[in-house]
Amino acid sequence: MQCSWKAVLLLALASIAIQYTAIRTFTAKSFHSCPIPNPVNCSLSQDADAADRLCDESPTFAYNLSRKTHILILATTRSGSSFVGQLFNQHFDVFYLFEPLYHVQYTLIPKLTQSKSTTDRRVMLGASRDLLRSLYDCDLYFLENYIKPQPVNHTTDRLFRRGASKALCSPPVCESLGAVDLHLEEGDCVKKCGTLNLTLATESCREHGHVAIKTVRVPEVSDLRALVEDPRLNLKVIQLVRDPRGILASRSETFRDTYRLWRIWDGTGRKPYNLDVTQLTTVCEDFWNSVSTGLTRPPWLKGKYMLVRYEDLARNPMKKTEEIYDFLGIPMDSNVERWIQNNTRGDRSSSKHKYGTVRNSAATAEKWRFRLSYEIVAFTQRACQPVLAQLGYRAAASEEELKNLSVSLVEDRDFLPFS
Ligand SMILES: *[C@@H]1O[C@H](CO)[C@@H](O)[C@H](O)[C@H]1NC(C)=O
Ligand SMILES: *[C@@H]1O[C@H](CO)[C@@H](O)[C@H](O)[C@H]1NC(C)=O
Ligand SMILES: *[C@@H]1O[C@H](CO)[C@@H](O)[C@H](O)[C@H]1NC(C)=O
Ligand SMILES: *[C@@H]1O[C@H](CO)[C@@H](O)[C@H](O)[C@H]1NC(C)=O
Ligand SMILES: *[C@@H]1O[C@H](CO)[C@@H](O)[C@H](O)[C@H]1NC(C)=O
Ligand SMILES: *[C@@H]1O[C@H](CO)[C@@H](O)[C@H](O)[C@H]1NC(C)=O
Repeated sequence: MQCSWKAVLLLALASIAIQYTAIRTFTAKSFHSCPIPNPVNCSLSQDADAADRLCDESPTFAYNLSRKTHILILATTRSGSSFVGQLFNQHFDVFYLFEPLYHVQYTLIPKLTQSKSTTDRRVMLGASRDLLRSLYDCDLYFLENYIKPQPVNHTTDRLFRRGASKALCSPPVCESLGAVDLHLEEGDCVKKCGTLNLTLATESCREHGHVAIKTVRVPEVSDLRALVEDPRLNLKVIQLVRDPRGILASRSETFRDTYRLWRIWDGTGRKPYNLDVTQLTTVCEDFWNSVSTGLTRPPWLKGKYMLVRYEDLARNPMKKTEEIYDFLGIPMDSNVERWIQNNTRGDRSSSKHKYGTVRNSAATAEKWRFRLSYEIVAFTQRACQPVLAQLGYRAAASEEELKNLSVSLVEDRDFLPFS
């Protein structure tokens, strides 16, 4: 039994490794073979001719001291990451991509579901880092290796959530609107803009001052260390966390099949014997590991890491957003302000989309208190006790306390960026 199970796992891992190797071989022209320029004087530290030959095929990569900021939103599903993504997507000078690592996952590990084996997740990391590095360099062709069917003539209609990226729905990438900067809903963008021309997308990316990428597919900040330390990048990580009780409630409602057993527990008051508690504990472990790394302030993260609690953002979106932009050293843009004003008032009429962000943010952040039974809340508080304490989320001592909104379960804490 034990033996054959291991054999199957080994085979699976081997096949993933082979696929990954194959992809790397196909893309041998990439960026990695280029020598790293000397940050002091911008010259290439090795033989310049050899460097030219090596890098001939990716001439776009130019080391530029007045360079772009590369923003990574490190999040998990249902933690408010779409909301935070919009804070960048709306900025006129930011090129924003919504979860490009989706394509890596579905190429390498098609059957991976939410928070399954950590081994699987880690297998993805090497490929994910390569892709992120290329995308921050505006090499969108690199993504083609992971899109199925493979794009022809650098065009595709299969880019995941293309419509969530404003730059990919506006000129020069999408000209169909002709006139002014009209705001396109996500679905309209896909309908009206037609096939995505990745050459135009690449140009658009280069024209923007900064690149922001959101992902829920990187477990923790130390998985990004190679990118943070890469002198060719100027990576800043915004780690978004949320009360795990809120995440659980939101996932149970959104991913109804995957979280079916939690809903059964909630409905019947009886915990199913085959409940997969890792759906909860993985989130807590990832938060714990990542936040612990961030809070110990290792030199490699200096100036590169900011922790944001979703609840703080929800309570005071404008102030928190200003803090985030201060940390990044990018001036905030009036589009962002207007978007916040439009989308954090109590207008409920438009929460139609599963990943919608339009709603009363402060109330939304607390809704879980009425969605989860006290039994499940108590279970979560035990399972995630260390991370709740670390992030300043108070345990509810009773059902009364849970449902009484005058009892705050979020302590006031300042998580100052490490600069
Ligand atoms: C750039 O720095 C490298 C290493 O410090 C040095 O070898 C090279 O001569 C410098 N080039 C210029 C143009 O200063
Ligand atoms: C660096 O980037 C800025 C802004 O994109 C541009 O104006 C400038 O010409 C670039 N400098 C070099 C040396 O490429
Ligand atoms: C790709 O471009 C070539 C040359 O322009 C053209 O002949 C071919 O039909 C295009 N393929 C598709 C699928 O559009
Ligand atoms: C994509 O855009 C580029 C740049 O404008 C253009 O040269 C190319 O023909 C376009 N590709 C297709 C398939 O239309
Ligand atoms: C804000 O809402 C107004 C009225 O609905 C709309 O015209 C405007 O485009 C919105 N602005 C943003 C940035 O979403
Ligand atoms: C809710 O909590 C507040 C503050 O602790 C308390 O004063 C109030 O009586 C509570 N309300 C109910 C209905 O228990």
